[in-house]
Amino acid sequence: MIAMITCLSINKCSIASTTTHKHSSNIITNKKMSNIRVTVAALWCVVVVFGGLTLSSDAQLDTSFYKKTCPKVHSIVREVVRNVSKKDPRMLASLIRLHFHDCFVLGCDASILLNNTDTPTKIESEQQAAPNNNSIRGLDVVNQIKTAVENACPGIVSCADILTLASEISSVLGGGPDWKVPLGRRDGVTANRTLANLNLPSPFSGLDTLKSRFLAQGLNTTDLVALSGAHTFGRARCTFITNRLYNFSNSGKPDPTLDTTYLQQLRGECPNGGNGNNLVNFDLTTPDTIDNHYYSNLQVKKGLLQSDQELFSTTGADTINLVNTFAKNQDAFFASFKASMIKMGNIGVITGKNGEIRKQCNFINKKSAELDLASVVSKESSQEGLVSSF
Ligand code: HEM
Repeated sequence: MIAMITCLSINKCSIASTTTHKHSSNIITNKKMSNIRVTVAALWCVVVVFGGLTLSSDAQLDTSFYKKTCPKVHSIVREVVRNVSKKDPRMLASLIRLHFHDCFVLGCDASILLNNTDTPTKIESEQQAAPNNNSIRGLDVVNQIKTAVENACPGIVSCADILTLASEISSVLGGGPDWKVPLGRRDGVTANRTLANLNLPSPFSGLDTLKSRFLAQGLNTTDLVALSGAHTFGRARCTFITNRLYNFSNSGKPDPTLDTTYLQQLRGECPNGGNGNNLVNFDLTTPDTIDNHYYSNLQVKKGLLQSDQELFSTTGADTINLVNTFAKNQDAFFASFKASMIKMGNIGVITGKNGEIRKQCNFINKKSAELDLASVVSKESSQEGLVSSF
């Protein structure tokens, strides 16, 4: 008889006993059973006392998590991101945003990468949630990174960690700060489109809503202001600013917190009734670089989104001082940006024995197995087809 003790977390241990001998149920005497019970109970105590140290799923992330199992992971990710960004500098911004949109929905578990599937479990992809649809970029780049990482260390590095590493690397390649990335996240086995629609902030939000969306993720006002600094690079579609340019709050007039020269420039780039998918740079002077211009732009009413300008133009707001500090001192911005990126990267992480290390970032492993099986079957039947054609 084997007693199996499984612990999903310190408080969630279960004992499953299996009988291995064919007729052992008849042979085992009551005395033996009670001995086994005592042994199992003793083992249970050992697990309860020490389980937290060894089997806990609440393990902390660790910057040297892959030191032994995939020591080159950082340079592998860096190489792919660097190559892609040579041709497409915007990709650095897109990858940071992908990480943000992942972490705000079910935590940093790579749920954003999961495609729609009906079997073996139904997954409603977050990719079609309003803030992501036709908007997020970089899914193919993540797959390219995953392939490179799997070639070096198969089955070791999670897609959630790849997103986090790619963000730090994007910061550095974009001229921003570097930091040691806490690692050891595991991938989730589900996604939640409804939560993506609820949790991700809207560009039309006022300051209170922005603060509360961040607070719901354990991020404070400093985090909000520091992380919004990611809008120092990348692009936004005209559709998110046309109301500010032509009919703010149904006034028939532009947003009064928009500089008039900047307004004319933006109207040129986003004509009224024009293509909402046209792109505008977030930062009018250094569009592909991480620097503190985002904050100096806000000071002169040149924030692109309403949600950006809210940080400086909301009367009496506690965010104004932070904007001024970051505009004056880029080092202060970089220090806060790092700290807040690490904090965001910690949201709801799955560690230890929970979740899984996905084989393919767009599918949970059960689905990958199903797809592998299907491809084996189709290969076999095509081979049969070949045989019968002779
Ligand atoms: C504070 C609330 C935020 C709102 C309302 C917001 C909203 C938006 C919107 C509407 C876009 C343009 C999307 C499009 O045109 O399709 C965008 C782009 C972007 N966002 Fe945010 N965002 C916020 C916070 C953040 C945070 C916290 C980060 C990262 C830490 C971030 C990083 C980016 C980047 C880098 C881009 C450009 C992406 C690209 O060019 O592909 N945003 N954001």
